[in-house]
Amino acid sequence: MDNIQVFDTTDKIAAAALDYVLKAADESIAEKGVFNLALTGGSTPRKLYELLAQQKDIEWQKWRFFMGDERYVPPDDERSNQHLAQETLLSKVPIDVSQVYAVPVDEPDVEAAARAYESAISKYFGTSGSTIPSFDLILLGMGSDTHTASLFPGKDSLEVTDRLVVSSSPGVLPPPVDRVTFTLPLINATHRVLFMAAGADKAEAFQKVHQDLHEPPEKALTPAGMVRPDGELHWFVDRAMAGTEL
Ligand code: 6PG
Repeated sequence: MDNIQVFDTTDKIAAAALDYVLKAADESIAEKGVFNLALTGGSTPRKLYELLAQQKDIEWQKWRFFMGDERYVPPDDERSNQHLAQETLLSKVPIDVSQVYAVPVDEPDVEAAARAYESAISKYFGTSGSTIPSFDLILLGMGSDTHTASLFPGKDSLEVTDRLVVSSSPGVLPPPVDRVTFTLPLINATHRVLFMAAGADKAEAFQKVHQDLHEPPEKALTPAGMVRPDGELHWFVDRAMAGTEL
């Protein structure tokens, strides 16, 4: 089922997202003793990560952190998604480095980084071949061009069916650097997807995605609209982006 919730402010999006993440963690840990979470980059999740870092009584040792997409830049580069996660959350909670699965951007090229990350994910989940692992929760954003993760409109990465992680050349939005990204098969195998997005600049894009969500997945025209997880799909958006129909 998909569920679009409209909030007045980005702070309220972050607060609702915090509750949802913590609930997903509790359910996952109760069920199997671990919470496999894929973070997103961009600016929107910053507040959520800061709120998460302030939480008490969290079984952080049972959380495992992945990155749904990454810019092919050094980890200390301001454009790095891992850099955002590290400075707002991962460096502020009592976890071991072994709980964090970052994209290996020290590989010699972006395709090697994608292959290495794909292998690391398969090894972690103990899957191989055609078996697609299921994350407990994948956080996503959406760009004003309807991209999500680093799945950009018109790119071959949208057609991939036999990979978990691929490399991609830049989309039309900055930063103009090569990317590593989860594929749609990996995203859609997850138990829960939570999109967080806001801003009037994304209103036109969201209208296209909203139309997609009322079509069968195979008729979706936008990358964000192609995200139809086996489990729950939630969109937390603000009024500026949602417009007045929702
Ligand atoms: C990235 C993100 C990307 C992001 C959107 C929205 O690497 O840039 O993973 O998919 O979620 O571009 O970004 P904002 O939250 O900054 O609008």
